[in-house]
Amino acid sequence: MARQYYIAGNWKMNKNKAEALDLAKGLVEALKDGKNKYMIGVPYVYLDAVAQVVKGSNILLGAQDVASTGNGAHTGEVSCAMLKDIGCGCVILGHSERRHEIGESDELINKKVRKALNSGLEVDLCIGELLSEREAGEAEQVCAFQLSAGLAGVTAEQMKNVTIAYEPVWAIGTGKTATPEDAQAIHKFIRGYIAKLYNQEVADNVIIQYGGSMNQGNCEQLLAQPDIDGGLIGGASLKAETFVPICSVGC
Ligand code: PGA
Repeated sequence: MARQYYIAGNWKMNKNKAEALDLAKGLVEALKDGKNKYMIGVPYVYLDAVAQVVKGSNILLGAQDVASTGNGAHTGEVSCAMLKDIGCGCVILGHSERRHEIGESDELINKKVRKALNSGLEVDLCIGELLSEREAGEAEQVCAFQLSAGLAGVTAEQMKNVTIAYEPVWAIGTGKTATPEDAQAIHKFIRGYIAKLYNQEVADNVIIQYGGSMNQGNCEQLLAQPDIDGGLIGGASLKAETFVPICSVGC
């Protein structure tokens, strides 16, 4: 089953406007002949400006969060309609920093997932276990729960617009990466679990990214695993010279 590699950068809460525009311009130029799927997850305040830069390119513009409701009296929130209005095509949801720093529940994440999909946005749904959960042998159980809760009410048809990012929390921003074998094992489990939730066709087609200290040095081995179809990259996505080599895998 040939799945296209999908490499996404999660800029998190980094960069000023000039730096954001510079990086986006550099990526548009460097990736223009790239054969993989690309996305950058940009802070809200720079999305509109970066949208003008990536317009017409092969880079999908992503937000790092979205409101679970439509437009209205929701102070501080940004809606799916607003994201779509400025050319944003995707949203990262369920990131561990939102789960564990902000306290987002699986129920809220699911509301956002459904709202985004129903609004025509693609979703990059992040799941992954804490170190304590891995050490307790609960990694699969945690991922299964986050998948079934996060995808509740999402149809097989809508799964065409869903990417799963497996991000073991202990590997995010720590320099510790899961070994390719460990990552493959859980990716295989995730695909099998999606087959149970939906069917084999959905499971075969869903892109499952790995995230957690992915870089130029370890991406080839990780992406060579049969069930690792891409990466969600934080730290190494903040500079073109560290992100582009990952984007070029397989090209
Ligand atoms: P990292 O972050 O690459 O800096 O570990 C990945 C992520 O949180 O998406």
